[in-house]
Amino acid sequence: MPIEIPPKLTERLARARRVTVLTGAGISAESGIPTFRDALSGLWANYDLQELATSEGFARNPKLVWEWYAERRLRVAGVQPNPGHRALAQLEKRYEAFTLVTQNIDSLHQRAGSRAVIELHGNIARVKCSREHTVVSEFARDDSPPCCASCGAYLRPDVVWFGELLPPEALARAEAAAQECDVFLSIGTSAQVYPAADLPLRARAAGATVVEINPEKTALTHHAHFALRAPAGVVLPQLLAALGEG
Ligand code: OAD
Repeated sequence: MPIEIPPKLTERLARARRVTVLTGAGISAESGIPTFRDALSGLWANYDLQELATSEGFARNPKLVWEWYAERRLRVAGVQPNPGHRALAQLEKRYEAFTLVTQNIDSLHQRAGSRAVIELHGNIARVKCSREHTVVSEFARDDSPPCCASCGAYLRPDVVWFGELLPPEALARAEAAAQECDVFLSIGTSAQVYPAADLPLRARAAGATVVEINPEKTALTHHAHFALRAPAGVVLPQLLAALGEG
């Protein structure tokens, strides 16, 4: 169902030199990946996030956490980027400075062709030592979880769990991109989890035009200059077409 792109927004994007984008789970929903809060449906419905997405939960039950991520890793590997991911990869080519910051851990932006991707919350395809935090490429696939070859500690997904710090270099680059852009697009995120949710507010404070793309209202909506109330897979191809790129 096409939506109306405000002419003023098209004009702002056409004139912009630097664009920064923040994406959340919503941009991958149309690829068939449940949004973060929906991920606990079906088989995992009776576990709470504190058991599955925290280092304490991992320490308590490493096998359960490892298997939950292994199941999500398989699901992610089996889906394709959608028109929203692909439109962002096209949009990137149009601007001299385009930064895509994502909270997602599914690699779908990279698989769609986006190059300048900053992963604030890690990546489910990567595995690291739970003690040394070094990323590991080879490990025993039938152990659950496998152990680090150099120190013997359990391996874990290279993702940010609740209560853990974000990778400092990625966060610093994301904050700089928020402060230096002309237009900031917040796409498919409930804007509840900090520090990612602070990025559009930093952009607005620095004078950028803030645009939200989300079928629902969020905590960001009343700070946004434009709120496009539709799915990313519908809006982003239309934005590209309005800019004469589609
Ligand atoms: P959420 O599940 O909190 O929010 C997903 C948002 O996407 C909601 O606002 C939906 O309305 C919206 N949405 C759904 N379908 C959409 C579509 N087709 N197009 C556009 N928007 C759509 O996911 P996040 O905001 O990404 O953190 O959650 C942020 C972080 O909270 C996650 O990265 C995770 C979680 O704690 C960590 O794992 C550290």
